[in-house]
Amino acid sequence: MHAKNFIPILLLAIFPKGYCQLAQLATAAGKLYFGTATDNPELTDSPYVTQLGNTADFHQITAGNSMKWDATEPSRGTFTFTAGDTIANLALSHGQILRGHNCVWHNQLPSWVTSGNFNNATLLSIVQTHCSTLVSHYKGKIPDTILEPFNDDGTFRQSVFFTTTGTAYISAALRAARAADPAAKLYINDFNIEGTGAKSTAMANLVRSLKSQGVPIDGIGVQAHLIVGEVPSTLQQNLQNFVNLGVEVAITELDIRMTLPSTQALLTQQQQDYQTVIHACKAVSGCVGVTIWDWTDKYSWVPGTFSGQGAACPWDQNLVKKPAYQGIVNGWMQ
Ligand code: G3I
Repeated sequence: MHAKNFIPILLLAIFPKGYCQLAQLATAAGKLYFGTATDNPELTDSPYVTQLGNTADFHQITAGNSMKWDATEPSRGTFTFTAGDTIANLALSHGQILRGHNCVWHNQLPSWVTSGNFNNATLLSIVQTHCSTLVSHYKGKIPDTILEPFNDDGTFRQSVFFTTTGTAYISAALRAARAADPAAKLYINDFNIEGTGAKSTAMANLVRSLKSQGVPIDGIGVQAHLIVGEVPSTLQQNLQNFVNLGVEVAITELDIRMTLPSTQALLTQQQQDYQTVIHACKAVSGCVGVTIWDWTDKYSWVPGTFSGQGAACPWDQNLVKKPAYQGIVNGWMQ
């Protein structure tokens, strides 16, 4: 057995039962972080904030909304970082790593971007200014630079950025981000790239092409908005394929939803599914960390988007741990 497999066992000896918590176990598995998304409206809920600051479970935070384009540059050239700074300062006060989210995305864009009818050169300059200003402001953090550039069939999403600039917006954003903070890890992030398939191949081709052109790219973010009982069997292989391109990977938005109401059988399957995902990251040395897309069902985005579905997080509506929590523990220790 490889020596590193002994670490969780040692950890068990050091921490009494019940004290092997998610971030501690991630560290013991050699990962940089285990963390969670959060959002500003939730920060008035003090039991929520207490657990959010529990660094034994979470030593990384992502702002779920407040660093996006509509929040940070609501009108051209006017930058507002107040809400994002609240999350950044919270992370700082807890000693948690902050993951930036995000420079360029087709969603949550202010209408001045989507309806501006800008030409190629102007839109590229707008992208550069936005990324540069955002990344400079949060210097020292690790941003998701480009979010969701692909359709599920692997073709490029027809966002305003793509229809105006082709793929030039991607390299422009990455180069601007690198110039603004040479130490920041630059990621491209998408959903439905957990298993092998057309979209994962498209992501690999994009990263290969960027690297061959000397465009800075450090990582691929695999979102992992998954469905109970449907974790792709090729997840670990796919993470390894991405790492083989010469980048790191992270699971950046993990949640595993079910059709409501939740039943014991669904919760048990969900526990297994969380374990499978975590273990896949553990098993791939280039997978540096995992972020869940909020930790409690109370604030999950899922029911608002998928009618009749939910219960996707490891803690329930009442901030009580579900079997999924143990699934994460098991995944790190497996
Ligand atoms: O800001 C308005 C507020 O003024 C208004 O009163 C309120 C009423 O509904 O809506 C607020 O906007 C909401 C926004 O979150 C901020 O809370 C939007 O309606 C809501 O659609 C938006 O949802 C976010 C979603 O991205 C938008 O696509 C979710 O919270 C956020 O968790 C989700 O996160 C994305 C990642 O960024 C990228 N990957 C997919 C993931 C899930 O969709």
